Amino acid sequence: MLRIDIISVKPDLIKSPFEGSIVKRAIDKNYFEIYFHDLKDYSNYKRKQVDDYQFGGGSGMVLMIEPIKNCIDFLCKQRNYDEIIYMTPDAKILDQKTSNRLSTLENLIILCGHYKGVDQRVRDQLITMEISIGDYVLSGGELPAAVLCDSLARLVPGAIGDSTSALTDSFQDNLLAPPVYTRPANFENLKVPSVLLSGNKKEIENWKENKSIERTKQIRPGIIK
Ligand code: ADE
Repeated sequence: MLRIDIISVKPDLIKSPFEGSIVKRAIDKNYFEIYFHDLKDYSNYKRKQVDDYQFGGGSGMVLMIEPIKNCIDFLCKQRNYDEIIYMTPDAKILDQKTSNRLSTLENLIILCGHYKGVDQRVRDQLITMEISIGDYVLSGGELPAAVLCDSLARLVPGAIGDSTSALTDSFQDNLLAPPVYTRPANFENLKVPSVLLSGNKKEIENWKENKSIERTKQIRPGIIK
């Protein structure tokens, strides 16, 4: 069972991706638990303030360390966390290897950044790992957190009906997935490759592997080992 606690100033922004699809199935089947924590509930201030101006000047508000520390302390008193992750564009980019490792753990905290980011002392003292989902900037860490959770949920054993499905995803063996087809076998004279209809398992496997290699060389040559 993988438990994820998400800390955010806008927890409502991330609830909907977990209300459908594989993630919901994983939650319903108790393979995966997800909890949302509103940072404002951990503020020391009357108006639930959680951010402030930057010291030294500069545009954009910065999330303060106090509410984040309060929330993380509250959670860490209840259980041990394997990783406390901060979603930020200035970090290593998420890859399948990282998702595979994280999906085998038990308890994760994900802190979503907002505005200009968080006080550096949070990153230095409270966070154990930082993850970016790509070289582009989003307005908060909520969508990146949802992306990370989705990629983990599909790897938790039992979450996907067909357990080989996650293992044949793109990137699992440093290759992109091969093309896939379904009915009809002939659509307006666009035909499904005949090998897939042959019933010859070995030939089909070879064909898929060759297509994967071809596709990877064409689109992402850098990921082939
Ligand atoms: N927050 C804003 N942009 C992000 C990104 N690309 N990855 C992770 N967190 C982010």
